[in-house]
Amino acid sequence: MASLSHDVFAKVRGHERAEQLRAAREADVLPYFRTLEGPAGPVVEMEGAERIMLGSNNYLGLTGDERVIQGAQAALSKFGTGLTGSRLLNGTISLHLELEQEIAEWMGSEEALVFTTGHQANLAALGTLLAPGDTVVADSGDHASILDGCLLSRAKLRAFRHNRMDKLERSLEKAAGDGGGVLVVVDGVFSMEGDVAPLGQITELCARYGARLMVDEAHGAGVLGARGAGASELLGVEDRVDLRMGTFSKSLASCGGFLAGDHEVIDYLRVQSRAFLFTAAAVPAAVGAALAALRIVRSEEGPQLLARVLDNAAYLHANLRELGFKVVEHEDDHMTPIVPVIVGDDWKAVLLWRALYDAGVFVNVAIHPAVPPAGALLRTSVMATHDRATLDRALGAFAAVKADFEAQHGPLPV
Ligand SMILES: Cc1ncc(COP(=O)(O)O)c(C=O)c1O
Repeated sequence: MASLSHDVFAKVRGHERAEQLRAAREADVLPYFRTLEGPAGPVVEMEGAERIMLGSNNYLGLTGDERVIQGAQAALSKFGTGLTGSRLLNGTISLHLELEQEIAEWMGSEEALVFTTGHQANLAALGTLLAPGDTVVADSGDHASILDGCLLSRAKLRAFRHNRMDKLERSLEKAAGDGGGVLVVVDGVFSMEGDVAPLGQITELCARYGARLMVDEAHGAGVLGARGAGASELLGVEDRVDLRMGTFSKSLASCGGFLAGDHEVIDYLRVQSRAFLFTAAAVPAAVGAALAALRIVRSEEGPQLLARVLDNAAYLHANLRELGFKVVEHEDDHMTPIVPVIVGDDWKAVLLWRALYDAGVFVNVAIHPAVPPAGALLRTSVMATHDRATLDRALGAFAAVKADFEAQHGPLPV
């Protein structure tokens, strides 16, 4: 038998990131895969020290809430550790149905469907509703799971430059000539820069060109709008969005995802989407926690939590800017819990991350390809449960680190 000249594993050696990764590991400045040693909260125990957590998506701080923990424990006690099968077969429990019912009420949609992760919800929606011959028009800043869903569908992908409505319109003009159905898909809140999609203009363009619209509310649900239903609610376009996706892995303090829309569409996905059918249902504790968190968001306490997280974001934003950091400004002035600090150079971002880590603050680092080349940033994010004293301590660390860092590595962008 002839032997193959090429080994598929060859790419694991000497890939483009290998050298950077090796250098970062050697200098112990790798910002990724750091280990938590206790509960996820406003201040965490991480690798032997206390650090202020400015790098999570626990926007409402509910992962440590007694009611949410109780929801998870009750589900665990009643249904056991795992469901060992698909929702279709043996994996549906009453909590899934309650959660679906309450999500649909929350979103003001006819129906909702719960998935094991948000990533799978995106794969399911895009990979099932789109087919070869259709066109999907996506913002270049959309989350990777959206791109994965688009690729899975084998529909024609037309990406437009982030939030540029003239480019979206151009893509829709071209898509009209492609011959199939057209779906526009955007993040309601973009995960790295924290900006809100201009959904008013997007819904108008979709209506003008006869395109369907899907909005990923992963970072909007549980944060924006009076009910916390997301960017679509904030911008008053809920009835003009055809399908909304959300996750439990952020404000809802758990793990899992959902799609909310018209009965017909959701029912089709329930029996057709492979990412729903061919995976095990979420563990009961995850479903119980999400349900308990959703009930808090929809209770009288919800609006206070939503106000608090945005107030904390505004405080961090204003004070980081005051300290001379270049904080991403949003044209439309919509505050979100994500407060990104622009650094530019990848390596500088990593070194600044390490200095903050040593000063007791954990943030996330986004380098290319998560952000455009030379657009490295520190993605800071707040929780409703951060108190001002903790945020002030974090700001103190930023101030101290900036002076030393600039003395050693030159000025940071202003
Ligand atoms: C915008 C966006 N969409 C989808 C997802 C996927 O959600 P999940 O973490 O539930 O898989 C995430 C987060 O990871 C996200 O940020």
